[in-house]
Amino acid sequence: MARLLVVHHTPSPATQELLEAALAGAGDEAIEGVEVVVRPALVASAVETMKADGYLLGTPANIGYISGALKHYFDTVYYPCLEATRGRPFAAYVHGNLDSGGAVRAIESITKGLQWRAVAPVLTVSGAPDRAARDAVYELAATLAATVSSG
Ligand SMILES: Cc1cc2nc3c(=O)[nH]c(=O)nc-3n(C[C@H](O)[C@H](O)[C@H](O)COP(=O)(O)O)c2cc1C
Repeated sequence: MARLLVVHHTPSPATQELLEAALAGAGDEAIEGVEVVVRPALVASAVETMKADGYLLGTPANIGYISGALKHYFDTVYYPCLEATRGRPFAAYVHGNLDSGGAVRAIESITKGLQWRAVAPVLTVSGAPDRAARDAVYELAATLAATVSSG
C-alpha cells in the first residue's frame, strides 16, 4: 500500500484546525490504497521519510521563516533522504497571522534541493481559519493523496 507521511508542527487551535482538515482530505473515501502516517515535525525520522511515497508538510510562519520544528525535520532528513526520495510528490500549507512569504520561500527552496515534486503551490492561510481555508487544505491533502495512490 502507498504511504503518505504528514509532517506537521501544530502549536495552536488554528493550526490544529488545519491539521484536522488535512487529515480529513488525505483520508477522503474516494481515495483508495493510501496509508496515512502522521508525525509531529520534531519526531519524524529519516527512515519514515524514506519509507513514504509522498509528503504533506504543515507549519506556522515563525519570525519570517518556517517553524524551527519543520526546519529541524529538514535538517534531520535532508542528506540521509536526498537520493531515496528524489522526485516524490509533496504539498504544504503555512499558517501565519501577518506574512507567510518567508516560510513559503523556505519550503520552495528546501524541497527544490530535495527535488521533491509539488502537486500544488504552497497554500497559505492567514488568521482564524474559515470554511474556505479548511476546504482548501482538505483539497490540497486529497490531491496529494490521490497522486500518491496512483503511484
Ligand atoms: C515567535 C513567533 C513568530 C511569528 N512570526 C510570524 C511571522 O513571521 N509571520 C506570520 O505571518 N505570523 C507569525 N507568527 C504567528 C504564527 O504564525 C501563528 O501564531 C501560528 O500560525 C498559530 O496561529 P494562531 O496563533 O492564530 O493560533 C509568529 C508567532 C510566533 C509565536
